[in-house]
Amino acid sequence: MSTVRAAICVSQNPTDPLAGLVLGEVPDPGAREGWTRVRVVATALNMHDLWTMRGIGHPPEHLPIVLGCDAAGLDEDGNEVIVYPVIADADRGLGDETLDPGRALLSERHNGTFAEYVSVPTRCVLPKPAGLTFAEAACLPVAWGTAYRMLFTQAGVRAGDRVLVQGAGGGVASAAIILASAAGAVVFATSRSEAKRAAALSWGATAVVEPGARLPERVDAVIETVGAATWSHSLKALRPGGTVVVCGATTGDQPPADLSRVFYQQLRVIGSTASSRPEFVQMLRMVEATGVKPIVDRVLPLEAIHDGFRHLESGDLLGKVVIQVTTPAETPIPGQGGQS
Ligand SMILES: NC(=O)c1ccc[n+]([C@@H]2O[C@H](COP(=O)([O-])OP(=O)(O)OC[C@H]3O[C@@H](n4cnc5c(N)ncnc54)[C@H](OP(=O)(O)O)[C@@H]3O)[C@@H](O)[C@H]2O)c1
Repeated sequence: MSTVRAAICVSQNPTDPLAGLVLGEVPDPGAREGWTRVRVVATALNMHDLWTMRGIGHPPEHLPIVLGCDAAGLDEDGNEVIVYPVIADADRGLGDETLDPGRALLSERHNGTFAEYVSVPTRCVLPKPAGLTFAEAACLPVAWGTAYRMLFTQAGVRAGDRVLVQGAGGGVASAAIILASAAGAVVFATSRSEAKRAAALSWGATAVVEPGARLPERVDAVIETVGAATWSHSLKALRPGGTVVVCGATTGDQPPADLSRVFYQQLRVIGSTASSRPEFVQMLRMVEATGVKPIVDRVLPLEAIHDGFRHLESGDLLGKVVIQVTTPAETPIPGQGGQS
């Protein structure tokens, strides 16, 4: 049987998550009716992978599994492609696959993208934006798709709106700053780091402050991924009737709810996860139309994936950690997994 190189989660540990991540060989995904086999050139790390390794949101009976949700690569015909990371049925979600109760992000129930080859439903394979490198394109599926849905679907951000993005250096947060600025919003951002605050200004933010500090004015929408550390500030920053959209809680998911403020100021609190395929397509169109690009913190080979995760865990990153799995020049062997 042909095999491919991969980074596999074999066990879970809340305090030492990387102990369960091993580099090894898995069966080549091979051909499957209605699915497409993609050679992964680049993939990116997400907090989702760390949550899986910590045992949060991923039942142990779904191990071992190849981790990784993001991919840019080549399809069987050599076309440059990007992978939409949600495997779901839009009909079961009343037209929105993120609302399908059986929805699965890549690496939840199907082997993910930390491998030389990944197999995904053919509808998940889309042309890579021509202006982006494989490394840049690999940053888009989870972080940029999520940021796009949070901004434009959930918060309904329009040109001229005031938007606060918490934790500027993060993958979703940096995407939100860039996308909202490109859409003509006035963007404020927080970061613990002076260097990241400066970076946020260079991406289009109008003003940057330390976490919790007073903003130049109250905002229409807050993009919240940090969680407990910034939640109180997020609620206080909103104008009456404003919207906070939350997709993650890196620093904890049980902050005080501050219900009095929520009802008295008539705030809208909206959860958000991933993007629908139409939102993903629209995000790619926006990237091409505006020329904006994701922020790549660093590019590492698959063999250095543990170092990449240590960096992600430290929180000391600017944008995305990208893993180069294969090189575009390698010739794929039809129907096989390359180096078996
Ligand atoms: N629901 C979904 O579909 C979805 C999709 C993607 C991500 N997420 C979740 O969203 C969260 C962020 O994901 P990500 O990939 O953007 O993560 P990330 O790249 O690691 O970014 C996290 C950011 O949070 C800020 N932060 C961390 N600790 C902090 C603290 N103690 N105080 C203040 N700020 C702090 C940091 O910003 P500064 O260093 O600039 O302060 C950091 O850059 C994760 O929990 C992830 O699981 C959910």
